[in-house]
Amino acid sequence: MSRDVLMLLFKLRNNIVLEGDVGLAERELQSLLGQAVQPVYTDDMKQWESAQWVLPKDIELRRGGVAGYLCTAEAADLTRLFWRLSFCEQVFGVAPNTEYIRELLSRLPASFVRCRVIRGRLTFMFVPFSAVAEWSDVVARRARSPSEVEASLDYLCKAIVSEQPTTLPQTLRGVLAAKQTTGHLFHGLHVYKAKFFPRMARAFLNLCGGTTVLDPFAGSGTALIEASVMGIPSVGIDIDPLSVAITQAKASLLANPGDYLEKIGEVQRRIESLDKGQGSLFEMAETPALYSITPAFLRRRVPEPILREVEADVAHILRALRGLPSCSPLHVALSDALSRKFKFRFLGLGYGRFSLTILPRRVRLIFADNLSYLAKAIVAWQWLRRRTGVSPAPIQTVRGDARSLPLEAQSIDCVVTSPPYMPASSGRENYLKSKAYAMTALGLVAPDSVDALEAELIGSVQRTEPINDLPADAVKLVEWMQSDPTRCVKAAATARYFADIRESLREIRRVLKPNGKCAYVVAQRHVFYRYKSREVVRVVENADIIAELARQAGLEVQELIHVELQKQNTIARPRSLDAYYETIVLLEKR
Ligand SMILES: C[S@@+](CC[C@H](N)C(=O)[O-])C[C@H]1O[C@@H](n2cnc3c(N)ncnc32)[C@H](O)[C@@H]1O
Repeated sequence: MSRDVLMLLFKLRNNIVLEGDVGLAERELQSLLGQAVQPVYTDDMKQWESAQWVLPKDIELRRGGVAGYLCTAEAADLTRLFWRLSFCEQVFGVAPNTEYIRELLSRLPASFVRCRVIRGRLTFMFVPFSAVAEWSDVVARRARSPSEVEASLDYLCKAIVSEQPTTLPQTLRGVLAAKQTTGHLFHGLHVYKAKFFPRMARAFLNLCGGTTVLDPFAGSGTALIEASVMGIPSVGIDIDPLSVAITQAKASLLANPGDYLEKIGEVQRRIESLDKGQGSLFEMAETPALYSITPAFLRRRVPEPILREVEADVAHILRALRGLPSCSPLHVALSDALSRKFKFRFLGLGYGRFSLTILPRRVRLIFADNLSYLAKAIVAWQWLRRRTGVSPAPIQTVRGDARSLPLEAQSIDCVVTSPPYMPASSGRENYLKSKAYAMTALGLVAPDSVDALEAELIGSVQRTEPINDLPADAVKLVEWMQSDPTRCVKAAATARYFADIRESLREIRRVLKPNGKCAYVVAQRHVFYRYKSREVVRVVENADIIAELARQAGLEVQELIHVELQKQNTIARPRSLDAYYETIVLLEKR
């Protein structure tokens, strides 16, 4: 081993169940290290021992399959690995005991590093930033109060770093085994359909590289938040004002968490006093007219007493939020409460029909839960900032259209994005309607204007286009839809969808710098079922069509990477009967 080279063993997180994620983890390591890495299997502990690793005795590995990766690395890579890794829980290392390497290790945050000299060699372990961040949210969710969050996190990290996870109380050991770890860094501020898994967004950023990133379909801002904590400045664009508000709220929490902790306490007190009827006479006299916020298309569906109750709760909460800037993170917590109260499931027939589930819990109680979670999430983030010294890079989010980006040509290094789904295949043609209540409550759109705004979105069934110069498979699909009486209603909208996607790809090409890369994440294929029997009638290789559209837009298609997604997370991705794959269409501007 030369002076600056170390051996590293990357232990994957236990809760990685899908092989696609393991594959992505391997690719990420390869692109971060610029070399191949050697898989280490759970059942093959000898490999670990033969390399004379000093691993904790009770280390918990993934059950079956690849448990980690082994490789050599430059000592100077350590800091980058700490900030960038997505899928690793711990990194073990062996290195010559030199001052240079000791100095590099001392640059990592002390709370997450163990280092000692054994038989003349330096052995060490560190927990990457993303693993600690994921744990911090699990701890925050489970804590009874904000004050408990910090103490629990310190305790957890100390036990891991001192190789004594078995000394942890059961509650904290559960944190390490938690399956749902997607809410950290305020990703969990607002429910959002079809959002990235944060780890994946981070991996895509690593695959693409670059020092500025754009997400032209920013949604709830997952890629931008991950870029920010990796130190990459980013720009997010979305046509939907609520998505912009959610992303801005998350960015503002990352940048100034302290501003909001006090405000949460104030709002909680105000709500309590309003609950006890202690609001000022002026406030009490303001009773908004019914339907002042209910979107037109919902008035027919929701019983009037429920609407009255919801509108009263919203008015009550908005009174308590007075004085805060509009669309503050606390307003976004209200939007989340409304999005949870009304759950839509669009039937996907193209006529806007949907089933609606109304949660019995009152909006003001869901909002109160959201505030107490937010307070704990802020404390967790403040702890993470102190312990790691993370300094989030700026996030700029603006409302705009991916088909005509408000950006200069050749101003962006890398694009990581996921456009809306094709309207042909699912109930996704009414993206905006499921958010409509929250948008009207926050004053982002008038109750009667939801349909007009929806028509602007890529993927809307209201958009139409003849088939002209689309790729052959797209033309075949649209023609088949035209000939099918149950699907013809969405045929022209599907043609328009493909044309819009190509427009967005042209814009990506325009704003990318030469050799800039783009991870364009789409459904691998769409399966069409007979409505009643669920028999498969057609399979469309969507990612291949998107790749062809990218070529038409002048981009070079480097690779299609297929990744299976976990289906139990029905919030993140649509349900389907079969395994569900997404494809990263990896593009480059030449
Ligand atoms: C699949 S979601 C993106 C989710 C995002 N990756 C996340 O993690 O939250 C697609 C987004 O595209 C947005 N969108 C639809 N049409 C658009 C357009 N013409 N320009 C910009 N954004 C658009 C939708 O509002 C939606 O937020």
